[in-house]
Amino acid sequence: MPPTRDEILSWLRETDPQRLEQLWRRADDLRRAVVGDDVQLRGLIEISNHCRRSCTYCGIRQRAKGVTRYRMTQDQIVACAAKAGRFGYGTVVVQAGEDPALTTDWVRTLVHRIKAEAGVAITLSLGERPHEDLVAWKAAGADRYLLRFETSDPVLFARIHPRGRGFHRDRFEMLADLRALGFEVGSGVMVGIPGQTWDTLADDLQRFRDLDLDMIGVGPFIASPRTPLWRAAQTPAAPEQVPADELTTYKVLALARLLCPQANLPATTALATLNTESGRETGLQRGANVLMPNVTPPEFRIHYEIYPAKACITETAEKCNGCMKLRISSIGRKVGKGPGGRRREGATSPEAPKTLRD
Ligand code: 5AD
Ligand code: FES
Repeated sequence: MPPTRDEILSWLRETDPQRLEQLWRRADDLRRAVVGDDVQLRGLIEISNHCRRSCTYCGIRQRAKGVTRYRMTQDQIVACAAKAGRFGYGTVVVQAGEDPALTTDWVRTLVHRIKAEAGVAITLSLGERPHEDLVAWKAAGADRYLLRFETSDPVLFARIHPRGRGFHRDRFEMLADLRALGFEVGSGVMVGIPGQTWDTLADDLQRFRDLDLDMIGVGPFIASPRTPLWRAAQTPAAPEQVPADELTTYKVLALARLLCPQANLPATTALATLNTESGRETGLQRGANVLMPNVTPPEFRIHYEIYPAKACITETAEKCNGCMKLRISSIGRKVGKGPGGRRREGATSPEAPKTLRD
């Protein structure tokens, strides 16, 4: 049975390493039984760091000072996608800030070109966009869309996402739209945003299951000195504040696996930033089954600094490719082949959500 709300809360608050071993083992066993030992690789291409929004946690927010803005050309992006294909990655994740220059048509052409010239599956991660864009991009061949809801607490969400004059979209409504349009749907949250309580985090986890997510990205909040939340992160925390640490991130990963057995769960770059030595490997041993090697050329990725000391920010695509594959083999796992979509045949697992078994 998947954990109840009370069990979720008590695991989140658990501090005894021996008891936590049970949680790690359950998540790892279920991961192996449902999605297997293959680690899926997604090539991350950070195509633009322009952003019209000013999210209070994000180092590339519009109002951040000292950010050199860039936008890759379509030729550069297609070349990265082709390189990802040569590395054997079945998918690329095309990510950017909410950049108004990435118009409906521009992205439509890009999706066509990546499909035709690189032949990999495409995940878009371009922020809040209107229905018409999603329709156009699906028709062009986009397979998946990632939009973290960041927190299920509407008050906290509003506080960290100041509303400018431009276009906004309720993220849950957009996730439902993506699902109805036939996208594989990814979402997720940050762990330890100032103002996040254990109760909110339990709500977030239950939302993952209610949304029947295909992909779930969770990583620790890392304060950026370029953002308003920098100061909040330095002041003493309220008693119910969730810590933005490695251990809590593993708990959320493991619980996400127990709640959503078939989901693709990455061990994220933010987790690797807190523990460059073994954060990714440990994530893979506590529920995760995906890694996202960065394939963005170094001259661009250095400027995609959403938080400080971001892992791999000065590396090349080749270095990350070799590094990720070594990390996978070091823990006795295999590199997954093909596009690595969600496998619904695992639905017979005893812990699979009931709606999937029917
Ligand atoms: N720390 C950790 N994660 C962050 N993100 C944005 N800013 C930060 C930060 N300071 C995450 C958000 C976003 C994803 C692309 O990166 O969850 O959805
Ligand atoms: Fe980039 Fe290790 S994954 S250097």
